[in-house]
Amino acid sequence: MKVFKDKVAIITGAASGIGSAIAERCAYEGMKVVLADIDEGALRNTEKVIKSIGVETLSVRCDVSKENDIRVLAEKTLEAFGEVCLLFNNAGVATGTLLWENTTADWQWVLGVNLWGLINSTKTFVPIMLKQNKECHIVNVASIAGFTACPGNGIYSVSKHAIVNFSETLYYEMKLANAPIDVSVVCPGFVNTQLMNSERNRPSDLMNSLDSTSYGPQKQMFEKIFHDGVLSGISPEQVVEEIFQAIPNKKFYILTHKESKDLIRKRMEDILNENNPTIYF
Ligand SMILES: NC(=O)c1ccc[n+]([C@@H]2O[C@H](COP(=O)([O-])OP(=O)(O)OC[C@H]3O[C@@H](n4cnc5c(N)ncnc54)[C@H](O)[C@@H]3O)[C@@H](O)[C@H]2O)c1
Repeated sequence: MKVFKDKVAIITGAASGIGSAIAERCAYEGMKVVLADIDEGALRNTEKVIKSIGVETLSVRCDVSKENDIRVLAEKTLEAFGEVCLLFNNAGVATGTLLWENTTADWQWVLGVNLWGLINSTKTFVPIMLKQNKECHIVNVASIAGFTACPGNGIYSVSKHAIVNFSETLYYEMKLANAPIDVSVVCPGFVNTQLMNSERNRPSDLMNSLDSTSYGPQKQMFEKIFHDGVLSGISPEQVVEEIFQAIPNKKFYILTHKESKDLIRKRMEDILNENNPTIYF
């Protein structure tokens, strides 16, 4: 996709961080912008910014882990704008501690948003795009954690590995189907957003009980490492710039942190040489 003006973009997780920066960029490109997020208050703030840029916009309260919410998002988008051309599967959450200390609720929440969000969105929007038979692009937001192991942040890393593989598979399937739909996967290192405060949007039915191991000292230690990393990260706008350079070039892998390539290379070498995983922390 080389021309963005007047096309319709949907952004999940649009109320904060990378998602709100993508939405702003879409608006500056002259697109019609559909904002989807679970956090209605923050969503209204993004909506105000997008309206002030002077483009048409629609906000939909949507929990991406719920298939029906995604269906409603699609219906409202088609009702308002008749089509969707650019889809950003960006909504994501993180919670850290040791794998055996994470609760079932932790697994259900993080996989629910990060992986089932993508599954629901793909099942809903790909058939719509195929029917449109127009040039479209799907951008899935994974992470460098999708190529490496992240001790203390295992569920997140498992979910992001799944997103990378899911995106690669979708890429192949689009080519096999000869469909006019391009796919990219974005794999940033640390970005300065509210990701370390993901708990703010955890649904009440997936909260941990106060005596759960998921509140132990290990969790606090990993949260501090994660918190400090995110705070020292690059800006969301830098990530968005890389994405918008990649889309017209149909670039699949978007690695916003060039230093992360060393970690990927080392992991691949370990696998191919059948070495044990290198300890890099
Ligand atoms: N910040 C980083 O260091 C970093 C690095 C690599 C990848 N990422 C990825 O970037 C994406 C965006 O995260 P961010 O860093 O901007 O964090 P953020 O917390 O600032 O924004 C995430 C947004 O997702 C929304 N969200 C949470 N649960 C949702 C749900 N069930 N349904 C719909 N929306 C929901 C939140 O309300 C929030 O607006 C995520 O997929 C994240 O994993 C972030």
